[in-house]
Amino acid sequence: MRIDVMTLFPGMFPGVFGESIIKRASEKGLLDIQLTNIRDYARNKHDNVDDSPYGGGPGMVLMCQPIFDAVEAVCSQGQTVDEIVLLTPQGRPLDQQLAQELSQKKRIMLIAGHYEGFDERIRTNLATMEVSVGDYILSGGEIAAMVVVDAVTRLIPGVLGDEQSNVDESFSENLLEYPHYTRPADFRGLHVPDVLLSGNHAMIDQWRREQAHKRTQERRPDIRPGNMNNNETR
Ligand code: ADE
Repeated sequence: MRIDVMTLFPGMFPGVFGESIIKRASEKGLLDIQLTNIRDYARNKHDNVDDSPYGGGPGMVLMCQPIFDAVEAVCSQGQTVDEIVLLTPQGRPLDQQLAQELSQKKRIMLIAGHYEGFDERIRTNLATMEVSVGDYILSGGEIAAMVVVDAVTRLIPGVLGDEQSNVDESFSENLLEYPHYTRPADFRGLHVPDVLLSGNHAMIDQWRREQAHKRTQERRPDIRPGNMNNNETR
């Protein structure tokens, strides 16, 4: 899968993309991330990418020209871009279902905005969708883009060593995860539940399922348990 990230701050990304799962996916050739600095496509004297809003008001608005030019130039290289995603707080909320959908694409582009936001024509005439990573305002779309890349990358077949780890995880069946324990069985008098030491795998599975349902009900009553994924790869 190829992911293009369009940003004014490419220096924010190498740390996150150069570690752990994203690094491994890139090294395995399963993921190709390309960063583009939108400012490289500014066509005015001071390399400006933003301007004051028509109608007045505070802040600056990202101009059409640098973003259209950058997106068109990068899209013309290589395979077809399946989705051009604008990161905005007004977008479709990112959840596991959306991460699954994006992970099935061959190539996506993420556009991280800054300042007051994008000229509306970027939303209406360039992007194919808008995505939000939560009901709060970030200083820019960069961290949101990193969140999308992370959530999507781990769903690309072959990225996680143990494919099972996607099946059991929180949200893969719209359930929060059951509690995990490792050695020792007694840490400062804090005991691991007996059932996990029993060796009875039917009982262990049942206990975990019950715990997952209990947690989901207690902490996230808004989530309705049930398999929301349509991931044919599993
Ligand atoms: N840009 C600023 N805030 C954002 C959010 N919550 N989600 C996605 N992009 C954003």
